[in-house]
Amino acid sequence: MANSGEGKVVCVTGASGYIASWLVHFLLSRGYTVKASVRDPSDPKKTQHLVSLEGAKERLHLYEADLLVEGSFDSAIDGCQGVFHTASPCYTDVKDPQMWYVLSKTLAEDAAWKLAKEKGLDIVTINPAMVIGPLLQPTLNTSAAVVLNLINGAKTFPNVSFGWVYVKDVANAHIQAFEVPSANGRYCMVERVAHYSDIVSILHDLYPNVPLPESCVDENPYIPTYQVSKEKIKSLGIDYIPLKVSIKETVESLKKKGFVNF
Ligand SMILES: NC(=O)c1ccc[n+]([C@@H]2O[C@H](COP(=O)([O-])OP(=O)(O)OC[C@H]3O[C@@H](n4cnc5c(N)ncnc54)[C@H](OP(=O)(O)O)[C@@H]3O)[C@@H](O)[C@H]2O)c1
Repeated sequence: MANSGEGKVVCVTGASGYIASWLVHFLLSRGYTVKASVRDPSDPKKTQHLVSLEGAKERLHLYEADLLVEGSFDSAIDGCQGVFHTASPCYTDVKDPQMWYVLSKTLAEDAAWKLAKEKGLDIVTINPAMVIGPLLQPTLNTSAAVVLNLINGAKTFPNVSFGWVYVKDVANAHIQAFEVPSANGRYCMVERVAHYSDIVSILHDLYPNVPLPESCVDENPYIPTYQVSKEKIKSLGIDYIPLKVSIKETVESLKKKGFVNF
């Protein structure tokens, strides 16, 4: 799909974020011109990894925008053929019921669908589960921190299951959703549903010498038996990277960036 974006201008909101940074990277490598919104363009921790991407010098433009400031996205979106809207706080604290985060995502998606209907906009939503894989940005994002916590001396692991999905698959799905004419509706992205105990055992296979939490905080770990269909995402040409590979790449990236030392 190289050069599929040549001559096209798109906006990525929250561009310095974990998922969005990969999205900007893949858009630039496909030839797109990218108008990227960040909250603080003068903060190198938020922009340096973006401006040093291949193609950025010629085709990346940074804009300052905050969701809490009415109208602040207007100039970033102006003249774009597509908008990839990822800006939002991301929250995965497993000790907290997280209900406000889940509610915020549900309300935001609902509002987007209502607005699209009202204004006749063509939208597609991508709903990934827990996203892991290598980091482009220098700061730690919340979902990579979930893996870091397990290799950083924790004594127990939470009694929680999540769907897991690889960050590059998520970024690519966004682009495919824009490029594939038949893309429509919602795409739930889960490569595998796994309990923390599964994640710990994969980590043990990969890194037998690394101390890992030995037990679950709860005496009765609830192991899920459900799965999420992969059929719809296949129609966008996405063939998921397996969880074991995503975990390995997350750990290697955390090591490379100095978040963990072994
Ligand atoms: N990571 C996951 O596991 C996961 C799973 C499902 C859905 N998601 C969703 O995917 C999107 C990106 O997540 P991520 O993991 O890439 O998160 P991230 O690394 O924390 O990035 C979030 C981005 O949103 C921006 N942002 C936060 N509040 C904002 C505001 N008030 N105005 C403008 N921008 C704001 C942040 O800007 P600054 O850089 O200025 O702080 C940051 O660039 C979010 O909508 C998240 O809810 C993530």
